[in-house]
Amino acid sequence: MKMYRELAAWWPLLSPVENYAEEAAIYAETILQHTRPPVASVLELGSGGGNNAFHLKQRFAMTLVDLSEDMLEISRRINPACRHVKGDMRTVRLGSLFDAVFIHDAIDYMTTRDDLQKALDTAFVHCRAGGTLVVVPDHLKESFQEETDHGGVNGSDYSLRYLEWTWDPNPKDTTCLTEYAFLLRSPDGSVDCFSERHEHGLFSKHEWIDLIEDVGFIPQIISFGLSDHPGHTFEMFLGKKPSV
Ligand SMILES: C[S@@+](CC[C@H](N)C(=O)[O-])C[C@H]1O[C@@H](n2cnc3c(N)ncnc32)[C@H](O)[C@@H]1O
Repeated sequence: MKMYRELAAWWPLLSPVENYAEEAAIYAETILQHTRPPVASVLELGSGGGNNAFHLKQRFAMTLVDLSEDMLEISRRINPACRHVKGDMRTVRLGSLFDAVFIHDAIDYMTTRDDLQKALDTAFVHCRAGGTLVVVPDHLKESFQEETDHGGVNGSDYSLRYLEWTWDPNPKDTTCLTEYAFLLRSPDGSVDCFSERHEHGLFSKHEWIDLIEDVGFIPQIISFGLSDHPGHTFEMFLGKKPSV
C-alpha cells in the first residue's frame, strides 16, 4: 500500500501524534489493570508511525513491529529509544516474552479468519503467563455502518487533507473497504491528488471471542468512549494468558 510506503513521510500530517494521547492512556490503563504485575514491557504489532507508542513509552518499554520499513523510519523519528523490528504480525517470532501485546488499527489488515488467527497466535507466543493482549479493531460486523471522515493538518511547509469513506459491498464476507482520497500540498503551492483502496477485516464479536480463545487466551470485551467521537462506543478485545 502506497499510504505506508511511498506516502509514509506524510503520515505525521495525516495522523498527528497528539491526537492519540487520550486513547493511548485508555490502552495503558487497560494493560495495567488486567496484567499480573510487574508490567514493564509491551510488544506492539503493526505499530505504524509509532503514534500510540509515543504515549505508551512513558509507561512501558515498547518493542515495535511493522511490515513497512518506511513507517518504521517515521516511528524512529519520534520514538528513537524504542526497539523497531520489520516483520509481519502473522509470522514474526522475536524469541522473547512481553508483559503485554498491543495491536491497534493495524489488525484491520487481517482480512480472513486464517490471517486473524495467525496474528493472534503471534500475540500469544510473545505474551508471558499472566500477561495480556489488547487488540482494537476499527470495525465490528454488528455495529458496522457506512461512514465518511476527513482530516489532515498543515505542517510548516507541506500540508495534507484526506477523505476516508468506508463501505461494505458484500455483507456476507469478512471484509469491508475504505476508499482514501489525499490532497498533498507542497511548499510551492502545487497540489497532488491521490487515491487508494484498503481492504479491512470485518468480524463479529463472536468470531473475535472464539479466535482469541482458540489461540489460548481468556477473552474479554471492553467498551470505551473518546471525547472526539461523542455518543460513539468503541470496543477493544482482551486476551488474558493463563498463569501457569
Ligand atoms: C494505520 S497504521 C498503524 C498506525 C498506528 N496505530 C500508530 O499508532 O501510528 C497501519 C500499519 O499496519 C501495518 N501493517 C499492515 N499489515 C501488517 C502486517 N501483516 N504485519 C505488520 N504490520 C502490518 C502497516 O504497514 C501500517 O504501518
